[in-house]
Amino acid sequence: LFAGPVDFVKGVVAMSGLPPADRAEVCFAGRSNVGKSSLINALTGRKSLARASNTPGRTQEINFFDLGGQSYLVDLPGYGYANAPLDKVQKWQALLKQYLSGRATLRRAFVLIDSRHGIKAVDEEIMSLLDSAAVTFQCVLTKADKLKSKELDKVLAQVREKLSKHPAAFPELIVTSSEKGDGIATLRAVIAGLE
Ligand code: GTP
Ligand code: MG
Repeated sequence: LFAGPVDFVKGVVAMSGLPPADRAEVCFAGRSNVGKSSLINALTGRKSLARASNTPGRTQEINFFDLGGQSYLVDLPGYGYANAPLDKVQKWQALLKQYLSGRATLRRAFVLIDSRHGIKAVDEEIMSLLDSAAVTFQCVLTKADKLKSKELDKVLAQVREKLSKHPAAFPELIVTSSEKGDGIATLRAVIAGLE
């Protein structure tokens, strides 16, 4: 699946702009700056396919990427704090919620959690929305390169404990570093297995 071409399809700002729901898709959700766009670049081996930046609120549209004409990878705007005008942020957060609860072909939502921070209240809110919409979600820990393994173990325990209360959570966690490449092959295999 990841061996073929990857192309940017479109950026979407309203539900009416979504491409036809004619193939499987997976999306990457998470707080602003957690590393969603960087993870898509690492997965596809394309340095700046999805635009990443140190400013929270970089991705402001729902960006669709075509994987070999077979499925979509979907880069979402972040939730939580963003360095952007409030009306704009509110608009994309509303769209994000509509998308997460109303996309028939969404096979799995990957909910990215910063390894240094663990699950926050805003993450729980999105997870509860996914529970209600019966969309299976799986947590991906990001930026693992920033932690020592003992610190990582602590966060993993917190994440597992919180996930046990979410019926839509897929229990297996994936620990990644887009910078160093940890967990990327594992995540590719999980996505390929959802086809
Ligand atoms: P928004 O679009 O603003 O919601 O952010 P995002 O979740 O798409 O995050 P993005 O990929 O833009 O990355 C945010 C910052 O984190 C950038 O400065 C990245 O270089 C950095 N970053 C992302 N992944 C990693 C990682 O695995 N390790 C390290 N050390 N930094 C990372
Ligand atoms: Mg982004």
